[in-house]
Amino acid sequence: MKIVIANESYFKYSQIICDTIEESAKVRGTGIAKRTTEYIEKRLKNGNAILALDGDKFAGFCYIEVWGHEKFVANSGLIVHPDYRGQGLAKQIKKAVFELSRKKFPDAKIFGITTGLAVMKMNYELGYKPVTFSELTDDPEFWKGCQTCKNFDILTRTETKMCLCTGMLYDPHAKKKVEEHKLNTKAFTRLKSIKENLFLKKKEK
Ligand SMILES: CC(C)(COP(=O)(O)OP(=O)(O)OC[C@H]1O[C@@H](n2cnc3c(N)ncnc32)[C@H](O)[C@@H]1OP(=O)(O)O)[C@@H](O)C(=O)NCCC(=O)NCCS
Repeated sequence: MKIVIANESYFKYSQIICDTIEESAKVRGTGIAKRTTEYIEKRLKNGNAILALDGDKFAGFCYIEVWGHEKFVANSGLIVHPDYRGQGLAKQIKKAVFELSRKKFPDAKIFGITTGLAVMKMNYELGYKPVTFSELTDDPEFWKGCQTCKNFDILTRTETKMCLCTGMLYDPHAKKKVEEHKLNTKAFTRLKSIKENLFLKKKEK
């Protein structure tokens, strides 16, 4: 398995990246925004993306998005092809994209939003902390990326204050505490179910 920093020579993978994201969104039913090939190619071209390849075969992907004049960067669009899940590949990709973000944007706060327990776990281990949406970028363009998520109406209703996703942030200038970075998964599963009850019930009324 190769983990590479993307460039234009990887454009041939943009379609399979989009298809895998779309298929996974259908299966999971929540919390994954669709992407177009143009969108993916822009991230491949500017070297702000990581690809995992098994020989020539697409295995996984994640990209960096820059917000608020480089004050914030997001690590988004993490996807592992179903054939390669459960082997620690997402962890390797996440680590690579995190290291690339730290190298290219050393002063930026790194953030992400997710409904996925796997991503929360990985972020937490990298030193991210859960935060309210008010601590993330206030760039309205960022939230536009959520328009193709099926829960977008919740985000609109709450004026981008909250949604089913949890916001997580790595602050390079925060004081480091010596502690073990292990997520309390029980608490997050409970929080997610409370949010779903609250927001999805309201939607049905
Ligand atoms: C989520 C996803 C990226 C995980 O990829 P993966 O390569 O199977 O993940 P890894 O094997 O590297 O596992 C990383 C950690 O997450 C955990 N994990 C993986 N899938 C999980 C799941 N469905 N639920 C809970 N935890 C999960 C693993 O146990 C591991 O934790 P550990 O180190 O404590 O054991 C992959 O399932 C995927 O592409 N899903 C669809 C797209 C998606 O949900 N993307 C995230 C958008 S925010």
